Amino acid sequence: MKIRTWDNQYIDLPLPDTYGAQKNIVALPGLIDPHVHFRIPGTEEKEDWKTGSKAAIAGGYTSVFDMPNNTPPCINKTTLQEKTTLIERMLDEVHSPLAFKLWIGATKENIEKIPELKKDIIGIKVFMGASTGTLLMDNPEMQKALFKMAGEHNIVIGTHAEDEEELKKGKEKYPETTDVHDHSKIRDRNAAIKAVSHAITLAKKYHTKLYLLHVSTAEEVALIRQAKNDGITVYAEVTPHHLFLSEKDYDTLGTKAQMNPPLRTEEDQKALWQEILDGTIDTIGTDHAPHTLEQKALPYGQAPSGVPGIETALSLMIDAYNKGTITLERIVDIMHTNSTKIFSYIPKETWIIVDLDLIKTVRDQDMYTKCGWSPFAGRELKGWPLGVVINNIYYPSHT
Ligand code: DOR
Ligand code: ZN
Repeated sequence: MKIRTWDNQYIDLPLPDTYGAQKNIVALPGLIDPHVHFRIPGTEEKEDWKTGSKAAIAGGYTSVFDMPNNTPPCINKTTLQEKTTLIERMLDEVHSPLAFKLWIGATKENIEKIPELKKDIIGIKVFMGASTGTLLMDNPEMQKALFKMAGEHNIVIGTHAEDEEELKKGKEKYPETTDVHDHSKIRDRNAAIKAVSHAITLAKKYHTKLYLLHVSTAEEVALIRQAKNDGITVYAEVTPHHLFLSEKDYDTLGTKAQMNPPLRTEEDQKALWQEILDGTIDTIGTDHAPHTLEQKALPYGQAPSGVPGIETALSLMIDAYNKGTITLERIVDIMHTNSTKIFSYIPKETWIIVDLDLIKTVRDQDMYTKCGWSPFAGRELKGWPLGVVINNIYYPSHT
């Protein structure tokens, strides 16, 4: 069947006859998610690659880059190999066509060993401030050594940029709180701004390719815009939750709206959108970080940070397209093309089929992610993926 692509070409794809002319469908290249937590090994009660891959395909993603904050953390040749074997086995079991790459976590001990693993990794993840898991590199001398090594070997560094000292100060201010509204005050915007500024300084000094994960404030994007103007190789990622949720959502979502970095103000949201349109922001990374409803039901202070997002990211963006906020071209740039360039990642040719007019409400019970919920439940969105085409085989989103 001949289908229109997002850039007004026509392509022959093996789709069900029922799609015919009555649907307003368009083909986009398979999406790349540079930032997921599929939880293997160690916390498979939250997600695994059987459920995660189904969620990814349902959301229009054909490649994902998985984060290393596992149990044990993915930090050396052995853990990379073991993790790869587990993932391949799970994908095989469900005949999933999902492609994947792995981030390696930076530690005090592994800096010299990383260059020899270059071909096995998509980049190095650095937690400048502590988040979920045990990975943390807040020592300035270690950070310098890491950026220097990565610059010399042309390996991308992905930073979780929240300054650990600022986070500690924040926690001291609200020692016993069980109010989730305090999360954005404890992990104050200054922690993110300070760490982003520091990371940019290091990238400039050591000529490191710097990928700033989940930027969330207006000040961070202003710093990044300046750095780009100064010719520093810095890239910025934004998450769907920072684009479509704000601090106000704690009222209704409680700890389901708790993640790191935290939700910010509506002004920040506006600044992020502006910089998506202006080109300062390069990618959408879902930071798909599932936790079970049981874990999320714990009081603030005990509930873990993180939200699932891979099944809803594209629909949220297509809904924004339908409202006139963004073009399909820009969506393809930030959800596919830019990741191929930043990470020198050459994906197989894959397509996703999107029904631009399909209206559906996000519902927890429709989610394939093992955690079984979405912070966007209840939202009516216009524009949904119907399926993906990989190796000339059609995989419907929902079966
Ligand atoms: O909210 C978050 N959840 N932020 C992170 O940095 C980690 C993630 C997780 O793994 O749960
Ligand atoms: Zn993450």
